[in-house]
Amino acid sequence: MKLHTQHSLKALNTFGIDQTAENFVAVESKEELKEALNLAKFEQKFILGGGSNLLLTQPIKGLCIHIALKGINVIQEDDKTVIVEAMAGENWHDFVCWTLEQGYGGLENLSLIPGNVGTSPIQNIGAYGVELKDIFESCTAFDRHNLTQRTFTREDAQFGYRSSFFKTKGKGQYVISAVQFRLTKKGHVINTSYGAIKEALGNKESTPQNIAHAVISIRQSKLPNPAELGNSGSFFKNPIISKAQFDQLLTTFPKLPSYPQENGEVKVPAGWLIDQLGFKGKRIGDAGVHKKQALVLVNYGNASGQEILALAQKIQANVKESFNISLEAEVNIL
Ligand code: EPU
Repeated sequence: MKLHTQHSLKALNTFGIDQTAENFVAVESKEELKEALNLAKFEQKFILGGGSNLLLTQPIKGLCIHIALKGINVIQEDDKTVIVEAMAGENWHDFVCWTLEQGYGGLENLSLIPGNVGTSPIQNIGAYGVELKDIFESCTAFDRHNLTQRTFTREDAQFGYRSSFFKTKGKGQYVISAVQFRLTKKGHVINTSYGAIKEALGNKESTPQNIAHAVISIRQSKLPNPAELGNSGSFFKNPIISKAQFDQLLTTFPKLPSYPQENGEVKVPAGWLIDQLGFKGKRIGDAGVHKKQALVLVNYGNASGQEILALAQKIQANVKESFNISLEAEVNIL
């Protein structure tokens, strides 16, 4: 375990923001993770996963612990089902590809999401009709203060839309070291409810592999590849508003798309709202709004975190003024 000082984080956040960590260590085993958490000389400790949901607006003080634990193992299986454990530092999409190569179903709709396995439960990643919670079996996490290990079941994790116990009540208390997934070997649960998947599939069979290909082509057509253009996926959450407010908005904006919620409220796409205000493709310096998806903010090269944040705040103020809706950031802003 090697300690670095003034370590650049540019390659470790998908926005490609040039910030540093005052002190930095990459941990490759549970023992190293415990050792790093135990380093008493650093009062503040920041846990860095895949850096795909993070906007750095300032240097990281204290110690930045980068989770680099690797490994994928089948821990239980029968004829139909398999439980696979992946260590927190595995790249999410590489892990999805590995499961598909083994013939396991369940993760295909979540193909090509940037980030690592360990952070996937924190915000209950989701795309094309599937959320992490649907295939989550459990996860293993360390209590940051007494360094004991604990297993969280799906119930313990309290998943919600882009949310979990780890983002709410348990925020800052635990470090996830591994996640266990319940996948299928046969009788796959296929979800092609998202219209664009059906279109991309054409007359191909709905196998997990074909769905993954469809999802990959949809994502590649709409979402920028962080390796080419810095970004953090959706910058804001889709807001959930009351039915009364939605009905009122419809009188002025009859084309406003909507996703009714079980409790009667209505989720509306933030991308649509931002697009209506003419932000799509806008660029201020090196900070911009993606040309093909208004919910995605991008770094054209040398934008600072502050510049991206200023653009985000401008969008929030405009959406508030025009629609009386407060957009909440999905990305963690530091
Ligand atoms: N729309 C526009 N203009 C835009 C963008 C979207 O009019 O610039 C409209 C679309 O036409 C559509 C609606 O808004 O009617 C929704 O758009 P889309 O299907 O692209 O999905 P989204 O709601 O913008 C969410 C997730 C994505 C996920 C997709 C597909 C959130 C915050 N985002 O985006 O997740 O990939 O659905 O399931 O829930 C992420 O979280 O980082 C992410 C990329």
